[in-house]
Amino acid sequence: MKDDEPQLIERYTPNERSNHWITAISFILLALSGLAMFHPAMSWLYAVLGGGQWTRILHPFIGIVMFVSFLLLALRFWHHNYLDKDDIQWMKQMGDVLNNREDRLPEIGRYNAGQKLLFFVMVVCLVLLLLSGIVIWRRYFSIYFSIEIIRLSSLVHAIAAFVLMCGIIVHIYAALWVKGSIGAMTRGYVTWGWARKHHPRWFRESIK
Ligand code: HEM
Repeated sequence: MKDDEPQLIERYTPNERSNHWITAISFILLALSGLAMFHPAMSWLYAVLGGGQWTRILHPFIGIVMFVSFLLLALRFWHHNYLDKDDIQWMKQMGDVLNNREDRLPEIGRYNAGQKLLFFVMVVCLVLLLLSGIVIWRRYFSIYFSIEIIRLSSLVHAIAAFVLMCGIIVHIYAALWVKGSIGAMTRGYVTWGWARKHHPRWFRESIK
């Protein structure tokens, strides 16, 4: 290694990264095709999956792909997302978080409290989307449910999708905002500087 090259730490293995991007690509296809079905003003988005009929056929199957892929991702990362008392303190110091005064915050481990909370928002939304999605999957399952349950499930499906989309917008914004994070999920590595600045406790533990 040359002297001027930064030292790197592995943050995500190739398997974790493929798992994440399969989830992310399915999410984008589902969000766009779901919006097309949600309101006529967005029906031009039917083109994403090849028209109205293909959208109705493919959307639920892609939903299953996203759920299974997310389930594997969530099982891999579950133990990194337990909230502790430092996380409560981090949330109380939101002013310091937003103004980049990271030196005043409690020492952050692998993920900060915002990432952990968002993780559990994703888990709840994905479970609700799966359960309500099965009820409104006309082709195979809707015949087993009453119209009231189907209507309620459509509402739950739309609300969970809305919350998840807002959550993922925040997730992408944060990934772009914290320079070096995208590289963690594309190449798998972060610099020592990135780790020390944003996740000092994880940095200390990783270089032991
Ligand atoms: C579509 C564009 C997306 C981008 C650009 C993106 C980017 C990233 C990046 C850069 C990280 C690493 C953050 C870090 O190590 O500190 C990450 C982690 C993660 N992402 Fe995404 N992501 C996207 C979509 C999604 C979707 C759709 C899901 C799930 C529904 C998701 C779930 C996760 C999870 C679970 C983690 C690990 C964080 C944790 O366990 O708390 N991502 N993402």
